[in-house]
Amino acid sequence: MSTDLEKLSEFVVVANRLPVDLETDEDGGKNWKRSPGGLVTALEPILRQRDGAWVGWPGVADEKVDPIVVDGLRLFPVELTSQDLAEYYEGFSNDTLWPLYHDVLVAPTFERSWWHTYVAVNQRFAEETARCAADGATVWVQDYQLQLVPAMLRELRPDLTIGFFLHIPFPPVELFMQLPWRKEIVKGMLGADLIGFHLPGGANNFLFLARKLLGFKTTTAGVGVRSALGHVDFDSRVVKVGAFPISVDSAELERQSKSESVLRRARELKEELGNPEKILLGVDRLDYTKGIDLRLQALKELLDEGRLDPEKYTMVQLATPSRERVQHYIDLRSVIEEQVGRINGDHSQIGRPVVHYLYQPVDREELIALFVAADVMLVTPMRDGMNLVAKEYVACRGDLGGALVLSEFTGAAMELRQSYLVNPHDLDGVKNTILTAVHQDPKEGRRRMAALHRQVMTHDVHQWAESFLTALSPPEPRPDNQFVTERESDFARNN
Ligand code: ADP
Ligand code: F6P
Repeated sequence: MSTDLEKLSEFVVVANRLPVDLETDEDGGKNWKRSPGGLVTALEPILRQRDGAWVGWPGVADEKVDPIVVDGLRLFPVELTSQDLAEYYEGFSNDTLWPLYHDVLVAPTFERSWWHTYVAVNQRFAEETARCAADGATVWVQDYQLQLVPAMLRELRPDLTIGFFLHIPFPPVELFMQLPWRKEIVKGMLGADLIGFHLPGGANNFLFLARKLLGFKTTTAGVGVRSALGHVDFDSRVVKVGAFPISVDSAELERQSKSESVLRRARELKEELGNPEKILLGVDRLDYTKGIDLRLQALKELLDEGRLDPEKYTMVQLATPSRERVQHYIDLRSVIEEQVGRINGDHSQIGRPVVHYLYQPVDREELIALFVAADVMLVTPMRDGMNLVAKEYVACRGDLGGALVLSEFTGAAMELRQSYLVNPHDLDGVKNTILTAVHQDPKEGRRRMAALHRQVMTHDVHQWAESFLTALSPPEPRPDNQFVTERESDFARNN
C-alpha cells in the first residue's frame, strides 16, 4: 500500500459504489471506468476538492481489491460476494427500498434473508470506514443502501462527526410503515449528527417517524426549499435534520458547453441526425421511475395523430443499463425497446429513424454536446429525488436556447419553476406540453431559460456540499420548543 493510502483521512465519503467501476476487458486487462448515477456526478468534484477518501464497492462481485489511488482519488474498496450482490444490492436495496421509497411504483419485495444480508454488508462498510478515518474525522455516508452505517459507525468510532444524505425521496409515513424493519432503519440513520434530504417534505416525513415510531422529541424542519433545520432529541445527542437540494458542477458544465470541441460536436450531431428542425432528448438510467416509457408513448400518440411531423423532429433517447438482473428492469427494457421499434416501424424512413435509442452510457463530452444540440429536453420521471440531468441540461444552456419539459414529481421541479412542468400521470397534458415546448416562441424560451440558468448557476454542487458540511460541523444547542404538528396528531389519533 502506498504511503498516501496508509495516511488516515480527515474527510471520508462512504457510498455503495466507488466513483469508478472496475472492468475487465477482452484481454483480461483491468480498467477503472466512471460508475453510473447522479451520486457520483455530484460527489466526485467534492472529494477532489477536499482531498478525502472514498469507501465503496468497486462494481464487480467476488473481487478483493486493495486500496488504490485512481485519477487522484483515494479509494477504499469494500468487497461484495455474489450473494451480497443478489441480496443486499439487487434485493433489499433495489427491490425493497427503491420501490418503497419511489411511491411503490412497483410492489416492493419484503424478504427476510435480504434484510439480514443488508445488515451484514452495512456492518462491513462501517468497519472499513472505521479503519481509514482519522481521529475526529468527518464521515459523510450516502444513500439508501447504507442507512444502518451511521449507527454502526458511531458504535465503532464515537470520535467521528457523521453526516448522512439520502439521494432518493424519503417516502410518506403511510408507505414507510409497510417496512418490517422500519424502526431499525430510522435508528440506523439517527446514528448521524446531521441527516440530509433533497426536500423539506422528506425531512419532515423522517422527523415525524422519529417521533411516532421511536418516541423521540422532535422539532419540524421548515418548508421552504432551503429551510431551517429540524431536530431529534436523541438520548444524549441532538440530531439535526434538514433539506439540502443537491446540484451539479454548474460552472464546469457551462465551461465545457462553450468549448470549441463541444460546439463543433453539437453541430456534427445535428448533421448526423439528418438536420432535423428540432431535436428532442431523453437521458436516463433505464429505470421505471424515470418515465421513459411514458414519454415514448406521448411521442407515439403525437406522431400517430399527425400532430408531430416525423420529417421535422427527431428524438434521441440515451438509456444507461442499470440493475440488469432485477426483473422490473428486465421487463422495462423490453417495453421500451418494443415502443422504439414500433415508433420507428410506423414513422421512419430509410436512414432516418424518428427515435435514436442507445442502451449504453456515452462519455461526458458527447453528453454535453447532446445537451447543447437538443431543442427540447424531456425529463418525465414518475418520481425522482432530484434529477441531475435536468440541472445539467440547464447548466449547458448558457446560450439561453432549448426548452426543458420537467415532471412535477422530481425534486428539481421545486427549484426549476420556469421549466415546462408536467404531471406524468396525465398523458394528454404531457403531450400538449411537449408540443408547447417544441413550438415555443424563441423570446419566451430565452426568458424561461435565463431564469432556469441563473438558478442552477447560483446553486451548484459545491454550495450544496458546503451548506451540508457547515451544518454538520458546529454543535447545536438542544431545542427548547418541541411541538407536535397537526399531521402528527392526526396520525397518532388514527393509529
Ligand atoms: P440517477 O442518480 O437516478 O441515475 P440523475 O439524473 O440524478 O439520476 O443522475 C444521472 C447521472 O448519470 C447524470 O449525471 C447523467 O448525466 C448521467 N447519465 C445518465 N444517463 C447517461 C448516459 N446514457 N450516458 C452518460 N451519462 C449518463
Ligand atoms: O441516487 C440514486 C442511486 O441509486 C445512487 O445511489 C447510485 O449511485 C445511482 O443511483 C446509480 O444506481 P446503481 O448504483 O444501482 O447503478
